[in-house]
Amino acid sequence: MEPATFVLFGATGDLAKRKIYPALYQLFIEDKLPSSFSLIGLGRRELSDETFQSNVEQSLLTFSRSGVKDAEGMKKFLRAFRYQVLEVNRKEDYKKLLQMVEEREQSLNLVPNRMFYLSVGPEFFETIAANIHESGLGSANGWKRLVIEKPFGHDLLSARQLNLKLNQAFNETEIYRIDHYLGKPMVQQMGQLLHASLSELDFSSRKIASVQISAIETLGVEERAGYYDHAGAIRDMFQNHMLQLLMMLTIEFPNRSKVDEVGKIKRQIMKSLVPINKMDVHNHIVRGQYGSGVIKGEKVVGYRDESGIASDSQNDTFIAARLQIKDPFWKDTPIYIRTGKRLNEKATKIVIEFTSEGSSKDLLIIEIGPNEAISIQRSEAGKELSNEDIAARSQLNTLEEGAKDAYEILIHDALVGDKTYFAHWDEVELSWEWVQPLLDAYQENLLPLHIYPSGTYGPDESDKLLARDGFHWWFDSKNELNNYGTKGESYTYEYNT
Ligand SMILES: NC(=O)c1ccc[n+]([C@@H]2O[C@H](COP(=O)([O-])OP(=O)(O)OC[C@H]3O[C@@H](n4cnc5c(N)ncnc54)[C@H](OP(=O)(O)O)[C@@H]3O)[C@@H](O)[C@H]2O)c1
Repeated sequence: MEPATFVLFGATGDLAKRKIYPALYQLFIEDKLPSSFSLIGLGRRELSDETFQSNVEQSLLTFSRSGVKDAEGMKKFLRAFRYQVLEVNRKEDYKKLLQMVEEREQSLNLVPNRMFYLSVGPEFFETIAANIHESGLGSANGWKRLVIEKPFGHDLLSARQLNLKLNQAFNETEIYRIDHYLGKPMVQQMGQLLHASLSELDFSSRKIASVQISAIETLGVEERAGYYDHAGAIRDMFQNHMLQLLMMLTIEFPNRSKVDEVGKIKRQIMKSLVPINKMDVHNHIVRGQYGSGVIKGEKVVGYRDESGIASDSQNDTFIAARLQIKDPFWKDTPIYIRTGKRLNEKATKIVIEFTSEGSSKDLLIIEIGPNEAISIQRSEAGKELSNEDIAARSQLNTLEEGAKDAYEILIHDALVGDKTYFAHWDEVELSWEWVQPLLDAYQENLLPLHIYPSGTYGPDESDKLLARDGFHWWFDSKNELNNYGTKGESYTYEYNT
């Protein structure tokens, strides 16, 4: 791997502490960092190099997934770390940064390959990119890469504006957009695993009747009120993670598997998603917000009673959607997606429902979190449902990988220059294009906001969305009651139409 300098904006923040340092350390242990490597951490607070290194050490001791077993090795790792104060708007700080980067490159005899990792709020992306450009930090005689994390814009227009600004400093091949779902081993491999499983099981005579993609969680808004109340489930999860899951699932069907074509195929998939007109959104989308309820035996407050949330907030904490792909293979298969907070369980999974003449349903279940597994559930006439693990071999293959954190995989890929599992601009733009009419409908209050009790699976309307087509969400435990008695009693409708 080529030598590189890792310039980390937001080095004193939570993401760096919980994810980035442990990921880099894991790569170091596994000998997957460049042999010549320098990291320069940036933040507003004053820290000496020693204090910075000691803070990083603390984060490794707390968050490293394999633990710190070799104290000497860790010290060696930490010797690569330096710290400098940088306020994103202060141009002179970038000059100082350039000086420090060059000094380190000279003293370590490093080729000036520079990776700029922006672990800061998205409101700073444009300013930092412009200052990297102006200060000369981006003009050295090596490669330069910019790593940013979603959100990439707030809507279609702002995403385009952001991209234009970033392109003034970095071209598309130099921009690495992290959607950490794309770093999950199961997501990367699910298309291929699915293919292997299907051929083994002779599913050729069966037809895919529906696809369900769920990413549900029991947590509420927690400490993120300021951000979340302006984003909602649609921007926080749907536009990026959920549509990426859809792209990664369908990428291999019926038989497309060239890794180097991933970006192209994902673009095709997004282009063939049937658009939804804003006036027709109510036929395809269910919007919800959690009310009070009970999660795992504990009473929890409703969204509007959460700290930092306005008592009349119209923000969505749940979305269920019915999508269709205009493509010969998928055209008759509805794809249902849902994601939400304060639901009955934490799970990210995909259920593919098959039908064939004369027999009842078969399910293929891809669990992405908290466990990673592929399994099948067959239901044959006159027989009990049986769970049969069909992916023992595949699972074995993925177990070791499964322990890896997405950040380890993605940071490594960025260091070696492999963009396969990063979000390309075209996909991001096409996702925003598809989502924009939904945002408009939300904004114009054309869609009811259903208040659902915490601890359920969202509004009843989410079930009705599938029932209309003769389907239901698989594996929801319908016997869950909370202090509302049954689902639905507390629903309110507040919309214009
Ligand atoms: N935390 C997570 O698990 C997570 C997960 C996914 C995505 N993200 C995204 O990652 C980014 C960082 O999140 P975070 O949780 O690490 O935030 P955070 O804990 O609030 O840290 C923010 C970092 O930005 C620095 N910063 C803030 N304002 C600055 C300024 N004007 N000039 C220079 N530096 C400034 C802070 O430095 P000082 O405090 O020293 O000023 C700190 O290092 C956000 O965009 C977030 O959406 C976070």
